[in-house]
Amino acid sequence: MTDKLRHPLTVNGEPRAFFGRRSGKRLHKGQDRLFRDKLPALEIKLPSGPLDPRTLFQMPAMRIELEIGYGGGEHLARLARSHRDTGFVGCEVFSGGVAKMLEAIDQNDLGNVRLFTDDALKLLVKLPDASLDAAYLLYPDPWPKTRHHKRRFVSPTTLAELARVLKPGAIFRFATDIEDYANWTLAHILREPRFRFLGASPGEWHTPYPGWEPTRYEEKARLEGRHVSFYFQFERLA
Ligand SMILES: C[S@@+](CC[C@H](N)C(=O)[O-])C[C@H]1O[C@@H](n2cnc3c(N)ncnc32)[C@H](O)[C@@H]1O
Repeated sequence: MTDKLRHPLTVNGEPRAFFGRRSGKRLHKGQDRLFRDKLPALEIKLPSGPLDPRTLFQMPAMRIELEIGYGGGEHLARLARSHRDTGFVGCEVFSGGVAKMLEAIDQNDLGNVRLFTDDALKLLVKLPDASLDAAYLLYPDPWPKTRHHKRRFVSPTTLAELARVLKPGAIFRFATDIEDYANWTLAHILREPRFRFLGASPGEWHTPYPGWEPTRYEEKARLEGRHVSFYFQFERLA
């Protein structure tokens, strides 16, 4: 296999496709304004070479954490409000979600958040080894049909990249309400020797993380009758 064929952003030699939604309802005027006035200073533009995430922030960030698919940004904004000396990188492709996050940044004066508005894997491949202190993937799109499973964010490629960019001892949190996606993720993680599953018992898997507040998607799942979630934690081994 050539290097080109093995590159994480290609599948069988073709550029990896993105299948999620990028835009929905029209943004209202205030959101349009935030896109125009605020996003340019906060948006991460990928350099041709590696991207040291510490250089994204004006303050000396004590830690750098990444959230993939932050949706409406409730979890990311909450973390950023309570950990002002941590730099947070949020990845989201859906413009409605980006708009909500921009509102939260504006209202809470969050100088410690930077946003990437394209496929998170494109950012991951640019990050240096061991450059992140934590990563979150909360309620990723479930792609329930078997023929769509390959669209799921969790894959050998994305886990290998996450393992590469997380520091030894860093925690990767993955939550879902879809049992099949929980099993899928465990099956893939078990094949990635750089991660250790921290769940000792099923009781623990269903216990929310300390200080947890449901995300917008989790609330939606509950309203639709899916009350049980899986809250997994994986440790990046040394
Ligand atoms: C089901 S929603 C969950 C949102 C949020 N985490 C929550 O719990 O409310 C999944 C989100 O991931 C985003 N997403 C999917 N694939 C992505 C990717 N490759 N890079 C960045 N964001 C992605 C989608 O646009 C969507 O907003």
